[in-house]
Amino acid sequence: MASLRALLRVVRPLRPWVGYSAPRSFAAGANFEYIVTERKGKDGTVGLIRLSRPGALNALCNGLFMELNHALDTFENDPAIGAIVLTGSDKAFAAGADIKEMQNRTFQSCYSDKFLAHWDRLARVRKPVIAAVNGYALGGGCELAMMCDIIYAGEKAQFAQPEILLGTIPGSGGTQRLTRAVGKSLAMEMVLTGDRISAQDARQAGLVSKVFPVETVVEEAIRCAEKIAKNSKIVAAMAKEAVNAAFEMTLTEGNKLEKVLFYSTFATEDRREGMTAFVEKRKANFRDK
Ligand code: HXC
Repeated sequence: MASLRALLRVVRPLRPWVGYSAPRSFAAGANFEYIVTERKGKDGTVGLIRLSRPGALNALCNGLFMELNHALDTFENDPAIGAIVLTGSDKAFAAGADIKEMQNRTFQSCYSDKFLAHWDRLARVRKPVIAAVNGYALGGGCELAMMCDIIYAGEKAQFAQPEILLGTIPGSGGTQRLTRAVGKSLAMEMVLTGDRISAQDARQAGLVSKVFPVETVVEEAIRCAEKIAKNSKIVAAMAKEAVNAAFEMTLTEGNKLEKVLFYSTFATEDRREGMTAFVEKRKANFRDK
């Protein structure tokens, strides 16, 4: 124990270079530097993660991602949490990857350090995740929102992939997820010009499912997450897996996977409970079994 403490004393000051030591007190959220976490919803079934790096408009630095991934792991492993909401501030969901952190990178350092390799943990979360976007969702910020399952936007939100203006291209799924969400022409226009689109245009293009006044978007996202959390968690995970398969598979393969997952729901107690509750004209009481 004493030698572990001695090791931590040496490693902690070096964490920007060697990695990051995860905060010990998650529930209090006290040790996070770049995010704030809370449990929301009437029964605490929603995990809220708020990006909080106000001095840099929530620019996505390495430390922020380490904390975000830690929070996602914690909510993912918490049986009481049924859905997660990811948000930022009124001014910025996230203004992109931290340009100052990237400025002096070389090809060699990107390749050797596997730069961005841990940036897509969010896309692998099995529980449903809703992005509540206000203000700027630019570059990596737009990519982060697109890793979520549902995007709600505040009226003044702006989405863009402006990497081209910095002499680079999106590196965390922007060219792929944006194209699948809004189609080739608009995706090309955004990626090639760096132009921003409004919340209303994003809604029309299918990037965003609903637009709300700035001050209500987070509570609306929590309301939606709470609704999702009332359903069977295991069946929700299967539903999410099936929808996501539409991005990875041919129609035939996807339909096959859907069928397998549909049959699999019949192995759960929750499927029996859901149908029995309907027949008995009562509310279903899912127990995630
Ligand atoms: C680092 C950033 C930042 C960023 C803003 N800041 N965006 N720092 N990386 N992406 C910092 C500014 O340097 C400044 O710090 C503070 O936040 C406030 O920003 P201002 O520019 O003063 O605010 P404003 O005039 O309101 O302009 C807001 C803005 C502008 C339009 C969002 O900041 C901007 O264009 N930011 C960059 C957006 C961008 O290009 N994103 C893509 C990044 S590349 P100081 O200390 O000066 O006060 C990317 C690649 C992804 O995301 C690939 C892999 C994930």
